[in-house]
Amino acid sequence: MPIDAWFPLAIYYEDLPDALLHREGLIKAVLALEEQGYAARNFPEMAWTGDLHGVEQIHADPRFAWVVEQVEIHTRCYLQELGLDLNQIELYIQRGWPVVSRHQQEVGDHCHNTANISAVYYVAVPASGTDEAGCLTFFDDARLNEVSPGLGSENTDIVSSWNYLNQDQALYLPTEGRLILFPAKQRHGVTINHTDELRISLSFDIVLTAAPGQAAGSYEFLTPPPSQWRRFKS
Ligand SMILES: [Fe+2]
Repeated sequence: MPIDAWFPLAIYYEDLPDALLHREGLIKAVLALEEQGYAARNFPEMAWTGDLHGVEQIHADPRFAWVVEQVEIHTRCYLQELGLDLNQIELYIQRGWPVVSRHQQEVGDHCHNTANISAVYYVAVPASGTDEAGCLTFFDDARLNEVSPGLGSENTDIVSSWNYLNQDQALYLPTEGRLILFPAKQRHGVTINHTDELRISLSFDIVLTAAPGQAAGSYEFLTPPPSQWRRFKS
């Protein structure tokens, strides 16, 4: 009784070979930025996320240049694997920010609605490769195999056997030195850090636009390049 599973969600990951060389410098830079934004802290039970505390431009900070370069290299690889013609698009890092998760802190589920691709790089992970420090969790909102909407809800026990055909979420174990890329619209979150140590990651939002001079058709489906925009005078 074969069953084919179609329409996979593509999550790209790469363990960066020079991770250890950059680890201490990145930790130092992140903690310095957190110190600056700490007073404006929003929710104590949530991890410190730079984007909510005025620290969202690490892509322009030379201390993060190595990671930015890796994000650019691997985003191109990812998009090529997805079958895109890179000659027809331009790529931009729209924003970048650190995330520091301490004991019992988490990141609630969300999407990055203003971007196309999201990247996460794990700088420091206690008990790396386990779920102790908090997993990146992807939620399946399409539920293609949920033959009656809500069937897998936590309020029923109608699904008696959980298997790869009826999962509504996928957990990624955080691994130090690993870069992960995924569609920015995919809802995701981070589970609780159960360790007493810091879990430090970097997030980047990437935008695709059409390359200048492409056939008009591409402008229907990709944002035209910012170089062709006109800003209102005031
Ligand atoms: Fe996120």
